Amino acid sequence: MTEQNIPLLEVEDLAVEFATPDGVVRAVDGLSYSVTAGRTLAIVGESGSGKSVSSLAVMGLLQIPPARIVRGAIRFKGEDLLTLSPKEHRAVCGTHIAMVFQDALTALNPVHTVGWQLTEALRARRKMSRREAAARAVELLDMVKVPNAKERIKDYPHQFSGGMRQRVMIASALAMDPEVLIADEPTTALDVTVQAQIMTLLSEIQAERDMGLILITHDMGVVANVADDVTVMYAGRAVEQASVFDVFASAAHPYTRALLRSIPRLDQKGAGLEVIPGRPPDPTSVPAGCPFHPRCGYAEDVCRSDPPPPQHTLRYDRRSACHFAERVVQERGGVR
Ligand SMILES: Nc1ncnc2c1ncn2[C@@H]1O[C@H](COP(=O)(O)OP(=O)(O)OP(=O)(O)O)[C@@H](O)[C@H]1O
Ligand code: SF4
Ligand SMILES: [Mg+2]
Repeated sequence: MTEQNIPLLEVEDLAVEFATPDGVVRAVDGLSYSVTAGRTLAIVGESGSGKSVSSLAVMGLLQIPPARIVRGAIRFKGEDLLTLSPKEHRAVCGTHIAMVFQDALTALNPVHTVGWQLTEALRARRKMSRREAAARAVELLDMVKVPNAKERIKDYPHQFSGGMRQRVMIASALAMDPEVLIADEPTTALDVTVQAQIMTLLSEIQAERDMGLILITHDMGVVANVADDVTVMYAGRAVEQASVFDVFASAAHPYTRALLRSIPRLDQKGAGLEVIPGRPPDPTSVPAGCPFHPRCGYAEDVCRSDPPPPQHTLRYDRRSACHFAERVVQERGGVR
């Protein structure tokens, strides 16, 4: 393995539950993935599939209780963060792993200037003077291409547009020079043009800094444009893991195929988008066998009784949690 391929971050068999009045929510159930320097891993899946909860677990930001990490490992450069105290875990993340949260507006503090928020961590941990911190804040805003950065560090979050606020969030996540950046739906609240600009910005920054980027999204179109590797989540599990090329050339899980059918295609003008039939399972009572079976056009009896092997390997770098993965992957064009 070359140094390039050694994972920066490895999540192995992670399981997170919440105790709720309606029962135990198995939000993440045996998730594994890894990300290396200079690569982008996209984590995709419908709402409620465990994308944010698994990322908050990586960052040490789950509120315990009601959350409980039931099993698994979260290794940064080989060190399992789950063996550290919560304070030590957050300290590693504060320096080496950063996250852009799903809701930019609530993640920024309305009573402080943007300059203050960008450098709060630097002043506290790196003991920067006011003047050094202000210079660094300008540098960070320049990096994310906020025009007139020198003046804008004096403004408050509400004085920024949605797209500019998201740039500020990205700048703030980059303040400590992280090696891994987790971006949780960084563009959902923005209009399409701004979404594209933010994605381009993230890709450029990632390439410049050779970071590992984990991009959480609903949008397979975004995945096609920016990801190297893909993890598809369903009901807290990874159902397919492969390179972006393999996923788009011949997805090996029926759920991935269903997600792909919901992308608009220029060559099929006028054809309506397909919606995946049914709904994701109630997280307090996930169906027996394969959790996707009530919605799956490939399902057979075995799917209703036996869970598919979670890490069924088709090739060394391809996994699909489906009893019929080999058959599905052969059906290049025809999807059910
Ligand atoms: N504090 C909590 N208490 C109970 N259940 C929770 C809590 N936080 C999350 N969950 C549940 O955990 C599951 C996974 O949630 P998560 O936020 O990770 O989904 P997601 O994939 O990020 O969805 P979205 O695409 O909507 O952001 C959901 O069923 C959610 O309702
Ligand atoms: S295991 Fe069965 S139900 Fe699950 S995705 Fe595969 S074919 Fe569909
Ligand atoms: Mg989420």
